[in-house]
Amino acid sequence: MNSNKQKWEYFGEQDPYFGVSTFDKFKSANIDDASKAEFFETGEEHIGKVIAEIRRVFDTDFSPSKSLDYGCGVGRLVFPLAKVSQDVTGVDISAPMLAEAVVNAERMGVSNVKFQSVDEFLANKEAKFDLVHSLIVFQHIEPKFGLELLREVILRMKVGGYGALQFTYEHVGTTAEKLRFRAYRDLPFVYKLRNIALRKKDEPLMSIYSYDLHKLLAVFREYAGDRIMMHFTDHGFLGVTIYFQRVK
Ligand SMILES: C[S@@+](CC[C@H](N)C(=O)[O-])C[C@H]1O[C@@H](n2cnc3c(N)ncnc32)[C@H](O)[C@@H]1O
Repeated sequence: MNSNKQKWEYFGEQDPYFGVSTFDKFKSANIDDASKAEFFETGEEHIGKVIAEIRRVFDTDFSPSKSLDYGCGVGRLVFPLAKVSQDVTGVDISAPMLAEAVVNAERMGVSNVKFQSVDEFLANKEAKFDLVHSLIVFQHIEPKFGLELLREVILRMKVGGYGALQFTYEHVGTTAEKLRFRAYRDLPFVYKLRNIALRKKDEPLMSIYSYDLHKLLAVFREYAGDRIMMHFTDHGFLGVTIYFQRVK
């Protein structure tokens, strides 16, 4: 499941905020207090909508006790979750991302959060979360690993708990753009040549994968039955956020 660990350690070390949101203003060379505040504001807005949707569709009184943000990066979505949960666990594959998240928790004076590596997360099999959340993370994981991981996340939810997990299923672009992206992603030497030609440093590609919606829905059907609702997302790749309740 750790196929992309090296890449994310690189982004975490070099450019943790840009690694989360690829605007130039979030690059390490450019980010300042104002743009950092803006970065975290986007997280507040997102989590506000997620909680509102769960309350609107499933449970008007929903108030999570233990929340999980899977693929938490520097904590952008963990801190707003901490305002509505008793405690929050942020999990990430990248140690430098987690280190920056810890710094942010200290800077913001947030104490009801903890951060874990993927190995630590997988080692604890307790079904304790009543909210699991993930945004722009599974898209970076090869679907054969991502589907396996999805089950691991669901199995750590309480029966009756809710989830909002986002996945991509289609690249938007011309055929040429799609072919180029796939060549960069699946043939590492092609991407290396591109970096040499463009005199770029050995910067890894932020790979994005398309999930087969049939396979994805089969997993949700198994654990959520009909307690499922979807929102479409578009970050250049079309995606879905799947809201669901674990019923078994
Ligand atoms: C684009 S960032 C999004 C961070 C956060 N979800 C947010 O929206 O602010 C993707 C994050 O997923 C993490 N990641 C990538 N593969 C992962 C995996 N297999 N397990 C856990 N985290 C992973 C990366 O290290 C990175 O922090």
